[in-house]
Formats: sequence, structure tokens, C-alpha cells
Amino acid sequence: MVVKNICCIGAGYVGGPTMAVIAYKCPGIKVTVVDVNEARVKSWNDKDVSNIPIYEPGLEDIIAEVRGRNLFFSTDVEKAIDEAEMIFISVNTPTKTYGLGKGKAADLKYIELCARQIASVAKTDKIVVEKSTLPVRTAEAIKSILDNTGNGVKFQILSNPEFLAEGTAVQDLLNPDRVLIGGGNDEGGTIAINALADVYASWVDRHKILTTNVWSSELSKLTANAFLAQRVSSINAMSELCEKTGADVNEVAMAIGMDSRIGSKFLKASVGFGGSCFQKDILNLVYIAKSYGLNEVADYWEQVVIMNDHQKRRFASNIIKTLYNTVSGKKIVFLGWAFKKDTNDTRESAAIYVADDLLNEQANIAVYDPKVSEPKILNDLDYLGTRSETENRKGVEVYSDPYEACKDAYAIAVLTEWDEFKSYDWGKIYKNMRKPAFVFDGRNILDGEMLKSIGFVFQSIGK
Ligand code: UDX
Ligand code: ADP
Repeated sequence: MVVKNICCIGAGYVGGPTMAVIAYKCPGIKVTVVDVNEARVKSWNDKDVSNIPIYEPGLEDIIAEVRGRNLFFSTDVEKAIDEAEMIFISVNTPTKTYGLGKGKAADLKYIELCARQIASVAKTDKIVVEKSTLPVRTAEAIKSILDNTGNGVKFQILSNPEFLAEGTAVQDLLNPDRVLIGGGNDEGGTIAINALADVYASWVDRHKILTTNVWSSELSKLTANAFLAQRVSSINAMSELCEKTGADVNEVAMAIGMDSRIGSKFLKASVGFGGSCFQKDILNLVYIAKSYGLNEVADYWEQVVIMNDHQKRRFASNIIKTLYNTVSGKKIVFLGWAFKKDTNDTRESAAIYVADDLLNEQANIAVYDPKVSEPKILNDLDYLGTRSETENRKGVEVYSDPYEACKDAYAIAVLTEWDEFKSYDWGKIYKNMRKPAFVFDGRNILDGEMLKSIGFVFQSIGK
């Protein structure tokens, strides 16, 4: 079977870049990305490609080339479903904020809505591809909805988890380590798997396209994210010990990373991991393990999140302690708000939680981030619900110029590892700050010796 028409439901951080790359590499396939969020679709269609709703290096160029050629963004979900032979589901699956599994299980209401909509619209057989990260056995639930509410047409369900990391999404999509496709092993399943594998084979080596059963594929995604997050929590645990003992966490990371069994990646100590996936996926894993009565397995993985929360909290409390146990009325600058560099995504960013702790101590927070907008920053704090919108606006000021942000500040905290922070005129920044001027490097990116020679009191995670 040759796929000519693809629909993707959800034009977010996963759906947008993934479909852009499929359209770019497969000019013979018409790709339509649909979303219920009209504003988001409007931005994807903005004549000026620099206004697309997500920032990813390299994405604007691809969008400029393929949008209107074989890539389309639309709010007409039903038309796109009707026309497509293959439908990707890339909607959000946040952690549940209510009811059973609150705070741990994935909220599948958007997925279920999609399944019901596909079932009611489809008049021809469809291949439905789960792209969103989902609890194991979600494909089964989708299949049950499709088969029981559909118009008698046949559905094949595939799991095709996305492994792209934000900030490097385009590169990850163009050169993936592997593509994973889970599907049924009957004839229909095999045809569907091959159809999707053929799409990827336009630019990915066949030997990198793995096929498994649906549940292995679903669980592999959760496992990959749990292992990656565990590495960050492991090095962060060591960073606290380094600070007490005089060891340097960068040196420790380098020394262990040269062991080929350990490997050098994902060993950067930080103020804590953020992003939409790690915490959500681990909590989801914990919930699944508990639901099978596997309490030791659940506790083991939950500790990765507990360590991460501790790292964020201790970064904030260290700032307070160092500033003579009071930050009330003091201006503290946040360099960076995004959860990592090269993205405008702020979901679960450590900056939000560090700001929350400092606002509780009545600090005045000044934020500068090269890509995150003021409404997003304020909305992140409002969403926490710790204090009123008025109080958040009183305590937080967002700047478009880092030098202005740092004027009259008592301390600077580096929350995101944006490259531009390294090349600032730190002498100029120092001159305009209150003395003693403190820098807390939560990302281990600044040259501490240089800053100390200017006059800063400098502290870095793990040193
Ligand atoms: C992650 C997975 O990497 C990706 O495969 C999956 O598809 C989605 O989840 P993402 O969340 O976009 O991707 O970014 P990632 O690069 O994994 O970083 C996650 C968080 O960990 C960031 O806050 C990052 O700053 C932090 N991190 C990462 C560290 O603190 N230290 C490291 O060494 C690596
Ligand atoms: P991710 O990082 O997984 O891509 P996002 O939140 O960035 O998550 O994107 C998910 C998108 O899915 C959102 O833009 C949201 O509006 C969209 N969405 C959610 N449910 C539906 C639905 N039933 N139909 C169409 N779009 C949906």
C-alpha cells in the first residue's frame, strides 16, 4: 500500500516539526496538519515564517519550502481525516489534574476525542498512528473505540513514538538514531507497518527502522525517557555531593563519560530537568507499575522525580541563604526561562519552580529569555496557582534587554543554557549591579574564574 495523503491531528511541538520533515522528504505525499486551536493554526500559516508558533533551529527554512506545496495547516479536522489514508495522533497527553491517578496518570481525554472523531468521519479504511507518548495499552483503547463506534470501515493502529528532542528537533528528525514502529503481526498489521516504514524509508536507512509489537513500542518510549531522566537525576545527585566535598561535577562527568559503557551524553548537571516529557512519562510509568502492584518498581522510578524536585528547590534555597537569608524586595535576574536552550517551550521548566520559591520570599524577579514571551512567563506562574495574577505581575518583570534586566540587581541566576549568555559584556553588567554582586549558574555554562576576576561572587551547580 502506498500512502498519498497524511493527516496529523495536533499542530504542536511534535506534530508541527514531524510533519514538516515528512512533507519535505516525501514531496509525493500531501500532509495536512490540523488543530482545534485556531490561533495556533493561524500562526503556522503566517506569511512571515518567523511567526510560526514554535521556535526550532532550521524549521523556518523547511516550512518556507514546503508550506503550500505539500504541507498544509488547517482547522478543518473532519475534511483532513476524510481525505487521509494515514492519520497521526499528536495531541497533548498531560498528567491528570483530577480524579483517579491525579498527578500521575496521563490524561487521555484528547486522545479519546480524536479516536471518536476519526471513527465518526471515516468512510474508508485508515491507518491510525499514535505519535503522542501514551501509557502502555492505549492503542488497544483506541482500537476499541474505533471498532465499536466506526462506520464499519477497518482501522489499523500503529505505535510510532517520537524521540525528537526540542531544540534539535529538525536534526533529530532528519537523522534519527532509529524509527520505532509497533503494530499487529497479522496481515493487516504487517501491511500498515510496511506502509509507514516506506514513508520513513524515503530518507532513513531501512536498518534503522525497527518494528515491534504495539506494547513494546509504547513501553520503549516511556523507558527511553525514564533512562534519560535518570541520568540527569544521577549526575544532579552527585552535584550536591561535589559541592560538599570539593569535587567538580564537570570533571566527574568527564571521567565517567569516557567509560564507553557509560557514555558521555546526558551528564550535564543542572538546576533540574524540565520539558513536557520526562516528569510526565516517569509519573505515568510509576502509575502503571503501581496499578500492577509493582511497588518496588514504582518507588525506584519515582525517586528520579523526587531528586529532580529536590534539585530545583535546593537551587532556590541556596540563593536565599547566600543573600543573607533574605531576598525580600531584592531584584534577582533570571537569565533564561525556557526548559532548555534553542526552544521557546517552557513546560515544566525549572525556572517556574525556582521563581515560585523566590516569590514566596517576596523577591522581585526580572526575567530575560531570548525566545520566551512575557505572557507565557506570567501564564506559567498563574497556572501554578500559588498566588493571584495581580501578585505575580507585581513580583515579576520581563525584559527584552539583558543589560537592562541586570541593572540594580542583587543576583543573577542562570536557568537556561542559552549560548548568548557566555558572550555578554560581564564587566558592564557588574558595574550596574548592587554589591556584592552574585551569579548563581544553574547550568554550569559560565566561566567562573573570569567572573570572579571581575568581582562577582560566583557559584555553580556541582562546584
Ligand atoms: C526528551 C527526550 O530527549 C526525547 O527523546 C523525547 O522525545 C522527548 O523528551 P526534550 O524534553 O525535548 O526531549 O529535551 P532533552 O534534551 O531530553 O532535555 C530534557 C531536560 O533535561 C532539559 O530540561 C535539559 O536541560 C535537561 N538536561 C538534559 C540536563 O539537565 N542535563 C543533561 O545532561 C541533559
Ligand atoms: P506536543 O508537545 O505533544 O506536540 P502540544 O501541546 O504542543 O503537545 O500540541 C498538541 C496540540 O494538539 C495542541 O495544539 C492542541 O490544540 C491539539 N489538540 C488537542 N486535542 C485536539 C483535537 N481533538 N483535535 C485537534 N487538535 C487537538
